Formats: sequence, C-alpha cells, structure tokens
Amino acid sequence: MNTNTPVTVTVTGAAGKIAYSLLFWLASGLVFGPGTPVRLRLLDIPSAVVAAEGVAMEIEDCALPLVDSIEITDDVTEAFDGANAAFLVGARPRGKGMERADLLTANGAIFREQGRAINDHAADDIRVVVVGNPANTNAYIAHRHAPDVPAGRFTALMRLDHNRALSQLATRLGARVSELDGVVVWGNHSATQFPDVTYLTRGGEPVTAGLDPEWLADTFIPRVAGRGAEIIAVRGSSSAASAAGAAVDQMRDWVRGTSGESWTTVALPSGGEYGTVTGVVTGLPCRSRGGEWEVVEGLEISDFQRARIDASVAELVSERDAVRALGLAD
Ligand code: NAD
Ligand code: LMR
Repeated sequence: MNTNTPVTVTVTGAAGKIAYSLLFWLASGLVFGPGTPVRLRLLDIPSAVVAAEGVAMEIEDCALPLVDSIEITDDVTEAFDGANAAFLVGARPRGKGMERADLLTANGAIFREQGRAINDHAADDIRVVVVGNPANTNAYIAHRHAPDVPAGRFTALMRLDHNRALSQLATRLGARVSELDGVVVWGNHSATQFPDVTYLTRGGEPVTAGLDPEWLADTFIPRVAGRGAEIIAVRGSSSAASAAGAAVDQMRDWVRGTSGESWTTVALPSGGEYGTVTGVVTGLPCRSRGGEWEVVEGLEISDFQRARIDASVAELVSERDAVRALGLAD
C-alpha cells in the first residue's frame, strides 16, 4: 500500500534521452521506495514540450501504481514549486570533438535561472542532482544562485564515473561489482578526473597491491576518465541509460542511506576536505547518513594521489573562474 506522503520530483530535459530512462525508474519506485508515490514535474523548453507530453503519455500507459500525477511545463518557477528532489538534466550535450569548457557558456545561464527558482520555490528538503554538463560547474552555478539552500543539497553526478570504475575493476579481478568497495573518483566529471583504487577492497580485504600499476596508470585511469568520449564515439551519442541509472543510484542512496561503512562518490561543494579548494563541486568519498551526505574522513593521501587530485581540482577552479568572468556566478 502507498502510505507515504508523495514526493514532488522535478526532471529537467524531460524530452531528452536520459530522461527517457530516468522518468520510468523514478515512477517505478526505484529511488523513493515502493511505498512512496511520486508527483512528476517535467520541464523542457517550449519546442520540446510536445515531445515531453508524449513521454508522459507513455508513463501513463505503464499504469504504474506509484504515479500520483504528471505535470509538464516550460515554466521554471512552476517546475520547481514545492519540489523535494530535482534532477537537472536539461542541457546541450557534448558532440564529437567538443570539450566540456565549450559547454560552459551555452549551459551556464540555464543553471543560474534554475538555481534561483530552486532557491525561491522548492521545498525546504530539496535535494538536487545535476546531470547536465559540465555537471560540476553547472552545480556550482546553481548553488551560488540559491543562497537559502544548504550547500550540501547541490550535488553533481559523478556516480557514473564511480560505476564505470567499479565495473572495469570487477572485470579485471574476475569479481562481482557487489564484492568491491572503497573506490573514489576525485575531481571533475571530465578527462582530468582521478578514479582512485588506493582503498579498494574485495569482500572486505585490500586488493590494490595485486593490481598491476602499469595497467592502473595506462589502461584503467584513462579508460574510466575517457569513457564518456568512448561511448560517444562508439554509440554516436552520449551515454543515456547508464547516466540515468547512476542518477537513480545517487538519489536513492542519498534519500535511503548507504550501507554500513561502504562509501560512494558524490560531487558536492567542497568544504576543503583532502586539500580540495573550498566551494568548487568536486568528487569526494561520501556516505549517506540520516538523509545527508557525509564526506568520509581520515583517508591517507600519497604524493601520487595528491598530484592527481590537485590537477583535476585545478580544472574546476579554472571553470569557476571562467563562469565568474562570464558573470554567471560569483
Ligand atoms: P538530450 O539532448 O537528449 O536532451 C536534453 C534535453 O534538455 C532536451 O529535451 C532539451 O530540449 C532539454 N533542454 C535544453 N535546454 C533546457 C532548459 N533550459 N530547460 C529544460 N530543458 C532543456 O541530452 P541527454 O542525452 O538527455 O543529456 C543531457 C545532459 O546530460 C547533457 O548535458 C549531457 O552531456 C549530460 N550527461 C551527463 C552525464 C554525467 O555523468 N554527468 C552523463 C551523460 C550525459
Ligand atoms: C558521460 O560521461 O558519458 C557524459 O558526461 C557525456 C560526455 O560528454 O562525456
């Protein structure tokens, strides 16, 4: 029986490829649980509203018991009014040969407007997952325009990078993903990211010493960091179902908690942890307790890790400076 109060969930870019997976998983109860009805708010630009209506028709046709209502709008204020959770997916995707920096100008203004609307109209418990690229800096922009919302409620999606790392490691080790723990992807959701296996365990036992350092440096790190581009090259468009799945994982763990001492990767505004620059939205090892992300404390950082983390955080600082120069955030 659906006894809980319904949650209002806003998905931007509702007519797009990622939303086409994400919306159905949200409506199925994968994120908020089998007893919680969802009020879906679908936001897209005016020219895509009809297509979003088509997606809503398909959700209706699934006759899903947890769907309380579906509203479709091109009005940002309406979209975030009373929202408890928001997936900011809508943005222009990267095409072949484009770097994330090219997207800053195009997408920054979208996240400024949405940050303001979240600040003024969302529910007090709003939780935001920014998916649209450049995700970390878009989250930074939205957060900077929402001064009344606690900084930790703005996250960017790096769970996809985390999942990619886990999957590559499971294949290499002949393990199941569920046996592995202790992965973290530091920095930016970009080619500079640092997928880090220093604390990797299999069934609770450390396994990093058994992994060939050459494989880690020459294959694993570039493969995970370049996976988005690899998918674009092979598939002809950017990752969609895997991105939606990672967004589901991130919000589910946030709302319902991570298991035991396990952690995951979340990009959130840094409080200066592990020498990262305060304020930029960086990947960090996090556990979810009581509905809040907590950064895992006390991990030792080697010189090798330090250099990799600093390089990716430096890119985030340069993106932050670029959006400041464009007047998109302070
Ligand atoms: P898509 O082009 O299929 O869909 C994007 C949708 O956003 C379109 O329907 C478009 O009309 C809409 N949109 C554009 N501007 C909007 C606005 N101002 N308000 C609301 N909606 C708007 O793209 P997609 O494949 O769904 O990807 C969406 C974004 O996610 C892209 O930026 C992509 O690069 C990014 N992405 C991020 C990750 C990650 O791990 N962080 C992974 C994959 C893709
Ligand atoms: C991904 O990682 O798949 C997305 O961010 C798409 C991209 O542009 O790399």
